[in-house]
Amino acid sequence: MIEKNCKVVEVNEIQTGIFILKVKSSQIAADVKPGQFCNIKVNDSLTPFLRRPFSVCDVDEDIISFQFNLVGEGTRLLSQKKKGDLLNIIGPLGVGFNYSGNFENAIIVAGGIGAAPFPLLIKNLSKDINVISFIGGRSKKDLIKYKLKNVIVSTDDGSEGFNGNVIQLLESEIHKYDKLNIKIFACGPNAMLRALSKFTIENKFDCEISTESVMACGFGICQGCNIEGINSERFLLVCKDGPVFKAEDVKL
Ligand SMILES: Cc1cc2nc3c(=O)[nH]c(=O)nc-3n(C[C@H](O)[C@H](O)[C@H](O)COP(=O)(O)OP(=O)(O)OC[C@H]3O[C@@H](n4cnc5c(N)ncnc54)[C@H](O)[C@@H]3O)c2cc1C
Ligand code: FES
Repeated sequence: MIEKNCKVVEVNEIQTGIFILKVKSSQIAADVKPGQFCNIKVNDSLTPFLRRPFSVCDVDEDIISFQFNLVGEGTRLLSQKKKGDLLNIIGPLGVGFNYSGNFENAIIVAGGIGAAPFPLLIKNLSKDINVISFIGGRSKKDLIKYKLKNVIVSTDDGSEGFNGNVIQLLESEIHKYDKLNIKIFACGPNAMLRALSKFTIENKFDCEISTESVMACGFGICQGCNIEGINSERFLLVCKDGPVFKAEDVKL
């Protein structure tokens, strides 16, 4: 983990309200693993006071990208950064996805901006692994397909793809793949992760989920980001023990 002022390379709005921020950092680029995140100081002043955490979306040589949606003041400030601006970044942080196991189908499940960590995961998977990306959104304008592979979509309002949520879509499609050769990687809103965990635990699928919490320090000092573990003797920290956990290990 390092703290560094990194030069902004570009900020690009790829679809309404969804931005790709690219910054230069050879050290973070060399060390980061898929599913890890960085804690970004979005302004030189004291407001907003807390850094904002973002998953690393992709790495290209010494350039790291983040994908974010416009939520409030912090992301508004980030969206206005210009080439050459400096951003103070701490990273890479947390525990990312474990993609070293014995599986042939990597099934990605993402809701909205939950698609952010997957370009880097896909890039790091062995070339003979078949990737299928199930992505969901309220409407077709909320679907984020940036650098994903073999995308199958669902929308709550039926404006594109399967009419329903992404877990219902997954449940209707997953029988097409050999259960023993599947690993599921997911990120998205808590309600989606809760429904997915219930499904994968009941049906004994190997599944990892990337969770979120409001964070301050981002590396295990403030204890502000705790999450209840299952069969764990203590509360777990999203920033240090996660953000990626096995679905059966945390209570959402
Ligand atoms: C590990 C992790 C990875 C994330 N990766 C991404 C990503 O790749 N792309 C993306 O768009 N978003 C990501 N988020 C969420 C992102 O951090 C929040 O959307 C962002 O902080 C909102 O800031 P804001 O000032 O624009 O909004 P605000 O108006 O300040 O806050 C809106 C909401 O954002 C969340 N939030 C605010 N401050 C924090 C904070 N310090 N830590 C965590 N959540 C906060 C809260 O739920 C809050 O209600 C991630 C969060 C975590 C914990
Ligand atoms: S954010 Fe401080 S301990 Fe997790």
